[in-house]
Amino acid sequence: MAKSILLMCCDSCSPKLAAGIKADLEAQGKRVALLAPLAGCKDEACGDSFCKCEALKMIADGKKDALLSILVDRVEAAGKDADVVILHPIADEGALRDAYGLNIALAKNIDACVIPAICAKDKTDEQVAASAELNVKLLAQDGITVTVVASNCSDAAVKLIEAKGLTVIKPSAAKLAADKIVASSSITTPTKFMRSLHDKCRADKKTIVLPEGALDRILKAAAELRAQDLVNLILLGNEDEIKRNAAELGVSLDGIKIIDPAKSADLEDYANTLYELRKAKGMELDKARKLMADKTYFGTMMVYKGVADGLVSGATTSTADTIRPALQFIKTKPGIKTVSGVFLMSLADRVYIYGDCAVIPNATTDQLRDVAIASAATAKAFGIDPKIAMLSYSTGTSGSGPDVDAVREATEKVREAAPDLAVEGPIQYDAAVVPSVAKTKLPDSPVAGKANVFVFPTLNAGNIGYKAVQRSANALAIGPLLQGLNKPVNDLSRGATVADIVNTVIVTAIQAQG
Ligand code: ACO
Repeated sequence: MAKSILLMCCDSCSPKLAAGIKADLEAQGKRVALLAPLAGCKDEACGDSFCKCEALKMIADGKKDALLSILVDRVEAAGKDADVVILHPIADEGALRDAYGLNIALAKNIDACVIPAICAKDKTDEQVAASAELNVKLLAQDGITVTVVASNCSDAAVKLIEAKGLTVIKPSAAKLAADKIVASSSITTPTKFMRSLHDKCRADKKTIVLPEGALDRILKAAAELRAQDLVNLILLGNEDEIKRNAAELGVSLDGIKIIDPAKSADLEDYANTLYELRKAKGMELDKARKLMADKTYFGTMMVYKGVADGLVSGATTSTADTIRPALQFIKTKPGIKTVSGVFLMSLADRVYIYGDCAVIPNATTDQLRDVAIASAATAKAFGIDPKIAMLSYSTGTSGSGPDVDAVREATEKVREAAPDLAVEGPIQYDAAVVPSVAKTKLPDSPVAGKANVFVFPTLNAGNIGYKAVQRSANALAIGPLLQGLNKPVNDLSRGATVADIVNTVIVTAIQAQG
């Protein structure tokens, strides 16, 4: 992706500043594109920009994330044949009251270099320098680090500003060395995270089976996934019913395969395989035939046989009924005894992993060790360098009691089994994530204050914990992702929305990529 620069200035200085930077970069041999992210309205042409009226409608409908994603697309398109994209600021006008917030969010999502303009009109040199410092501080509060400012100030003021460690460029003849174009923040927003998952999905497209094929939410999610060309899909169920429901919803099933287990030529083979795999556990052929009529068993067998790469189900069934077939015959990966469930918690500026939130009611210390090691592997699969916090109500040696001792023992077992992993425990949540608390409570820990993988001591704690953060901190919770299975099978909550289903299918496909 091309580097980008976002100008934060008024409408009158933006064209001058953009033209100055463009000319200077072109003189350095760079290809430069200019873009106004939002423009036009009614009869005015929008060009490469996104229509302002449409954007306002999306914000009013609560679709700011979708709008951001569209704006990121526009920047990517503008940067296709360029080395640098210079963005004019989105201006405050009319009903667009939070243009500043939208500019900041866009900058974070495209890793832009943010250049604020400091107006020198009617100000002394000292006042200009103070104004530059103020701007930098205010932007820092929003997670943006500024190293370059633009100002029409005097040479004396330039010196004062430079003394504060900033580079100054002049709007009309802006000279900007290419190495000064550095991202003002490099955080992982939910939009950025989801886009990276989409790219991963498309790079190696997998086939996912959805046993609850006739359900409205599943049909809507399937259509969305196909429209974005993210995965291949197989819907299970009665073909007439699925087609009728899709028609009533007005969603397209183009490119989606439908299989009716009741009419499938594979039914007998699947039942035989189940019987063979489970006969030592008392399975009988008749019972295997009956079980294979169940769409979850049928779909899980498709994954076992390699007809599909992964399964997503559970919008109408309990967790136990959804994952039992997988536990029974997909089984765990070599060397792993415990299946557990984690959530990818995409917060405003980072992604955390919480586990176990879905499977093991009262984990033993061996199981907690397995959850930690499997969660670290999941973290790596999603591009996160794991730092594991084994959570407790006590940090280090400050507390005691059977629950704390169990977490201490589990932590030791992780260290023994996987000496290369960064792990700390027992540790409280605040000491795990807040550097200042970590400094007081565990100053020498390489994990405290920087943890990104959190192992909760019980299913109660894990399930409550993820829902508390999801609902009270407005985090995007993706999961639960079952980890430890030989092939990916994932369970939906019965309250799953269309977006939840889409996200779960995406992460299942990525798990299937191995
Ligand atoms: N890891 C690996 N294998 C397991 C696990 C596990 N965690 N749990 C069970 N198994 C295996 C057993 O060894 C057994 O194998 P076998 O038959 O070959 O010997 C098989 O699975 C069935 O075991 P059961 O003990 O009979 O398990 P059951 O089917 O009754 O339940 C389950 C297992 C579903 C995981 C159960 O522990 C459960 O209900 N957990 C809680 C699920 C839940 O309600 N989660 C919260 C909601 S999810 C959410 O909100 C996101």
